Amino acid sequence: MAKLTIPELKSRKGRGSLVMLTAYDYPTARLAAEAGVDVLLVGDSLGMVVLGYETTVPVTLEEMLHHTKAARRGAPELHLVADLPFMADATPERALAAAERLVKEGGADSVKLEGAKLDVVRALAGAGVPVLGHVGLTPQTASSLGGYKVQGNSPAAAKKMLEDALALENAGVWGVVLEMVPMPLAGLVTEQLGVPTIGIGAGAATDGQVLVFHDLIGVFERFKPRFVRRYLEGGPLIREAIAAYAADVRSGAFPQSEHGYEMDSSALEGLYGKEN
Ligand code: KIV
Repeated sequence: MAKLTIPELKSRKGRGSLVMLTAYDYPTARLAAEAGVDVLLVGDSLGMVVLGYETTVPVTLEEMLHHTKAARRGAPELHLVADLPFMADATPERALAAAERLVKEGGADSVKLEGAKLDVVRALAGAGVPVLGHVGLTPQTASSLGGYKVQGNSPAAAKKMLEDALALENAGVWGVVLEMVPMPLAGLVTEQLGVPTIGIGAGAATDGQVLVFHDLIGVFERFKPRFVRRYLEGGPLIREAIAAYAADVRSGAFPQSEHGYEMDSSALEGLYGKEN
């Protein structure tokens, strides 16, 4: 599959037009590319599902870079979006510096930022960095939104979300992630925008969908949001496999001779002084 260009991404309008998945490492990115995913996201959800932080707030630019590089090595053929971590987009200057590193060193094709930071989006887009927007639940500022809750459930909040999404489009994003947005509102935003919406917990009317890989395979077990469908119950399967390995080591069933290496008989004889 050839890497999707920005004009191609922008034209992905219509339900089910874009499949995005998070990936934070080489094997996941490789598997996702081979499975036919359109776009990879090195999300700052990395902090919660891989690094074990309580929230996405502590994630650093160095951590994002480390994992962006790994995912890039796994899927050189896919469009790869990297999140700007908390505060890296606080000013246009900081965002430009962070994006420069994610693109140049990390190999990202786009960066994603949360909220309607229009001056930042304009600066990035103006500098030639493709940007993906993100409205609705924005986890970096979840505490000021009242926690991990559906957003846009009052007339004022719904109006603001629609206005923010339109303003982001005008500022130059190629698409907008809608997270935990009521289905009718997500449908309305999707209709009004000329660029694709990518939903997570926003129903079926968005142009694309995104899931967190560790949710999809069921290995993030701390909590399971309502919008997640597990396509694999990976947690129990992996625990079972590890327990079987431990039992085999303890019983002597692993390793067997097929897992080891033979030695030249002359080398062995030499060791015991039988060489001459
Ligand atoms: O960090 C992330 O994985 C995200 C997705 C949930 C959209 O932002």
